[in-house]
Amino acid sequence: MKKRVTNGGVVRFGVSMPAEVAGSLDRWIREHGYANRSQALTDLVRDHLVDQFAADDGREIAGTITLIYDHHKRDLLNRLTETQHACEHLVISVLHVHLDHHHCMEVLAVRGRAGDIRHLADQLISLKGIIHGKLTVTATGKEFGKA
Ligand code: NI
Repeated sequence: MKKRVTNGGVVRFGVSMPAEVAGSLDRWIREHGYANRSQALTDLVRDHLVDQFAADDGREIAGTITLIYDHHKRDLLNRLTETQHACEHLVISVLHVHLDHHHCMEVLAVRGRAGDIRHLADQLISLKGIIHGKLTVTATGKEFGKA
């Protein structure tokens, strides 16, 4: 593969793609407010690489687990607390928001082995009484360099 390294560790290379794909890409770039294709493509590639990275159970990742539930279900609150205490080495911080009279949103900032994080998220999201839950993963920043 041909490549040319320029100042600051940036590599320039030509990319060929079907016109339709390039047109869709340019629309996506405009809609998302990117200044140029290089920056947008870098983010798209990095997003894919982070997903691949985080799919490996042994990698260290960071992320958030978001949970929505009805706080009147007391048994659920106990189980939520117990589950989080059992994995306190993975939970860095918790944000609790009272959405309305019934509903709460909890956002857990987590960090640790990807497999352990996924297991914790599955345990929490599958608790009876959780209305919706979602795990979002990202890298810790060490692996994917500067912006
Ligand atoms: Ni609340």
